[in-house]
Amino acid sequence: MNEKKYYITTPIYYSSGNFHLGHCYTTVICDAIARFKRMDGFDVFYLTGTDEHGQKVQQRAEKAGVTPKQFVDGLYAQIVDLWKTLDISYDKFIRTTDGYHEKTVQKIYEKLLESGDIYKSEYEGLYCTPCEAFWTESQLVDGKCPDCGRKVVKQKEESYFFRLSKYQDRLIKFYEENPDFISPKSRMNEMINNFIKPGLKDLCISRTTFDWGVKLPFDPKHVAYVWVDALTNYVTALGYLQPNHENFEKYWPADLHMVGKEIVRFHTIIWPALLMALNLPLPKKVYGHGWLLFGDDKMSKSKGNVVDPFFLVKRYGVDPIRYFLLREIPFGSDGTYTNEALLTRTNADLVNDLGNLVSRTTAMVTQYFGGTIPKPNEYDELDKELIALCEGALVKVRKDMDALSAPDALCDIFKIVQRANKYIDETAPWTLNKQGEKDRLATVMYVLCECIRFAATLLKPFITKTSNTIFEKIGISSPDNFDGVVKFGGIKDGTTVIKGENLFNRLDVDKELKALDEIAAEQSENKADEKPSDDLIDINDFAKVKLVTAKVISCEKVAKSDKLLMFKLQVGNEVRQVVSGIAQHYAPEYMIGKSVVLVKNLKPAKIRGVESNGMILCCDDDGKVVFVTPEKDVESGKVVR
Ligand code: MSP
Repeated sequence: MNEKKYYITTPIYYSSGNFHLGHCYTTVICDAIARFKRMDGFDVFYLTGTDEHGQKVQQRAEKAGVTPKQFVDGLYAQIVDLWKTLDISYDKFIRTTDGYHEKTVQKIYEKLLESGDIYKSEYEGLYCTPCEAFWTESQLVDGKCPDCGRKVVKQKEESYFFRLSKYQDRLIKFYEENPDFISPKSRMNEMINNFIKPGLKDLCISRTTFDWGVKLPFDPKHVAYVWVDALTNYVTALGYLQPNHENFEKYWPADLHMVGKEIVRFHTIIWPALLMALNLPLPKKVYGHGWLLFGDDKMSKSKGNVVDPFFLVKRYGVDPIRYFLLREIPFGSDGTYTNEALLTRTNADLVNDLGNLVSRTTAMVTQYFGGTIPKPNEYDELDKELIALCEGALVKVRKDMDALSAPDALCDIFKIVQRANKYIDETAPWTLNKQGEKDRLATVMYVLCECIRFAATLLKPFITKTSNTIFEKIGISSPDNFDGVVKFGGIKDGTTVIKGENLFNRLDVDKELKALDEIAAEQSENKADEKPSDDLIDINDFAKVKLVTAKVISCEKVAKSDKLLMFKLQVGNEVRQVVSGIAQHYAPEYMIGKSVVLVKNLKPAKIRGVESNGMILCCDDDGKVVFVTPEKDVESGKVVR
């Protein structure tokens, strides 16, 4: 087995659209880890994708008046654009509507049926449609879904079940033998106490109440439960049970499934049990990261706290956003987004520390050595301190990244940047220049350029674009690995630097905060203006109402009612009885022989004990009721549209 392979996955994203900064968190972290591992000599496979089936998608598509496929195609395009905007370096993007995935999910169900891990029964449970999850009464919080806080509904249906309960003991044994499988540790306890200890129940893994999903090959009125469909993406993407399964042999088991804390249970209970049933090795680690909060709430579209990553990247550039996500949020715990935190973090670390070091150094090399990096002379104690810091950094940063802590890794890299800035003040190159100490000045310039090279190399997985710009400025090509940050002295003297523009422009925090507030206010005003559009229906909604012409054959008053008339209507070959509340506006005999417009597919109702099958269209003219009639005489039963 290739020990230097690294298979890392994000969850596949729900195709809900309007992705916010919180959504970007998992993917940006995985991207930094994947890039780091690649540079550290690993053969990395980084997988991401979209979760495109399920009732929720079907409902949203219906609401939007498009087919589910059209709906998910649009959102797929949006998320691919988002990952491009954030410079995400995935190796494969899987969609659960991809043909190879759907076919493999069917094969997986067949396999589970053959092995006796699936059986047919009936399910009644409390279902949260937005989360696509069943809950037990005891798991609800205030009677609502514990994940999203929305109401759950009782659902009963014929279903196939996966024998999850059978795997309870094996799961516990696996956790005991692999104490690092679920990280951070607190999440392991959460799983054991909240889910395993109360006893695992068999899992309902098919649905019949909607059809936007993978059809079960042995019973096609059932579609696969969206979580089984989704979880298996981690192996179908590699070619599992497919003719071309090279990647599966090479990369499975996953080294890391990175997921948000709310979906840890799916990844650490259901997924391992499914893999056990399929006789496949289990992933090495599931890491449940915390949430990016906005105010006090999880930043989520449903709760209305949307921070648009496209907007933020356009305004500030991709690296400040990546840097903020990677640096500011204590890994494993929740972190809070505020505009102020983003702006001050950018100013403090990227503008003041990194930007200043690069611009001061390139300016001094330009001023004192005509833009050519000089040859260093003998290093003194101070230089040696910086050299040791640089040469020790990779080991530290690697350790931080092994612990999946991007904030610690960045902190350690920035120690070089901060130390180098202090070194400028300590060595005072301007004084050395004035005093004509060219030899010492040359060494100082060289040490500074090397510090920059070390920092930029180590920063490459995190702030991709800026790192490349720094390499352009110090005149060397951007490295693809960490080989050059083991030993100090990699820059050849004589290399030309380019001063150029600043890496980042300082942000005027007060002014920016005001501007952002104004933009937010404008957006919410626009939203309010858009509101009426919620009332609009599309052509498919309208098509649901079947309107036809009808001729009144007879009309009489309904007994004991001032308002109701009972009509017998000719509708093509059919006669319909309809009750209408127009007795105060029309005499029954006036109506006989008239053409009216009828809503034909209205559910039958009893009005004052009289059956009514449809509704006659009328307009309301300031309290007076006027029935609608075709402009020319037309036969009855003709479609009105
Ligand atoms: N489709 C499922 C995953 C199936 S994996 C087999 C899903 N999708 S999701 O779109 O809702 O979430 C994708 C990722 O975004 C999850 O890791 C989730 O935790 C993360 N985030 C969504 N909002 C978030 C925050 N506000 N903060 C941090 N991450 C959050 O779940």
